[in-house]
Amino acid sequence: MKKVKTAVIGLGRLGYWHAVNVSKIRGAELHIVCDQNKDMAAKVAQELEVPSFTVNPDEVFQNEAVEAIIIASPTSTHYDLLQKAAQSGKAVFVEKPLTINLEEAYAIEKRIQETNLFCQVGFMRRFDPAYVEAKRRIDAGDIGQPIYYRGISRDPDAPHESFIPNSGGIFVDMAIHDFDAARYLMNAEVTAVSAHGRILKYPFMEKYGDVDQSLTYLEFNTGAAGDVEASRNAHYGYDIRAEVIGTEGTLFIGDLQQHHVHILTKSGKTHDLLPSFPVRFSDAYTIEMDAFIQRVRENETSPVSAKDGVRALEIALAAKQSFQTGEKVKVFDKLTIH
Ligand SMILES: NC(=O)c1ccc[n+]([C@@H]2O[C@H](COP(=O)([O-])OP(=O)(O)OC[C@H]3O[C@@H](n4cnc5c(N)ncnc54)[C@H](O)[C@@H]3O)[C@@H](O)[C@H]2O)c1
Repeated sequence: MKKVKTAVIGLGRLGYWHAVNVSKIRGAELHIVCDQNKDMAAKVAQELEVPSFTVNPDEVFQNEAVEAIIIASPTSTHYDLLQKAAQSGKAVFVEKPLTINLEEAYAIEKRIQETNLFCQVGFMRRFDPAYVEAKRRIDAGDIGQPIYYRGISRDPDAPHESFIPNSGGIFVDMAIHDFDAARYLMNAEVTAVSAHGRILKYPFMEKYGDVDQSLTYLEFNTGAAGDVEASRNAHYGYDIRAEVIGTEGTLFIGDLQQHHVHILTKSGKTHDLLPSFPVRFSDAYTIEMDAFIQRVRENETSPVSAKDGVRALEIALAAKQSFQTGEKVKVFDKLTIH
């Protein structure tokens, strides 16, 4: 079997797992890894037996053997790296959000169209078995017409302070997963949002105009509605749940437990909780990486396009603007903030 020679740029909290997953795919060969932190790049290369590593992304784009590139560096770096991918013609997987602002998103979407570049955006919930089953049941008509989406995304704590300025803040970095899932599951586009947010636990966020708790009300073009909570305050673990209410039934996605084991003692009944995103979405990350390699190898189209990345970012930035101004924001109106 021909192996797709692959590279990973950015080997932090998530990029490391993408490198691990690619190294296990039979149809892929992890050819080079890149991180601006040399020790990190060297350590991952050694652990995964990757032939080479670099601190310079340009070496990845110039490497003639490399066919597919995974970008998992901070969101503020995505635009430049995507432009370089378009120039090199190499297939690209880019972590969400596509870019940090809409000017960049529209520019890169245009470039991707013009160059016919393969670009897959990292909305891994679309590959998570629970979300996939929910989508199948909705499309089969099992809950009638979807009329309400509720998303709950709670992190156990705030990311490191240095992560915040390059992330876009809670609406762009975190709630965006639910904005994409809402479009995907509701088979509809979000037309307007009203958002609120507050700092409840992490005062340092004020410096960056960010919050640790947010709520976004969604209006869809089908007449449906929804709400999305994003929080950094779930000290108990990683808590991802969604509900879709339909005219004929309701569907719940997600659970708090990691293992389906209950422990009963005289002091009561306990069970474990999901600790983190690499655990909750372990299957999803593996399946999305498989899909990326498979589609590149078979010359197929991307399952999560740059257009999907742009749409989710439009909603996220509208939510950020609504939070900042206190007003409802129409999603397709010209957004004024980054
Ligand atoms: N899909 C998901 O569930 C999910 C989860 C976490 C993060 N993410 C996304 O992944 C991206 C990375 O997030 P993270 O939490 O892994 O961040 P991180 O800060 O943990 O890791 C980023 C890594 O990139 C390296 N880096 C920075 N600039 C670079 C450059 N120009 N070239 C090469 N390496 C560079 C850093 O040294 C660091 O090791 C972000 O876009 C984030 O939104 C997605």
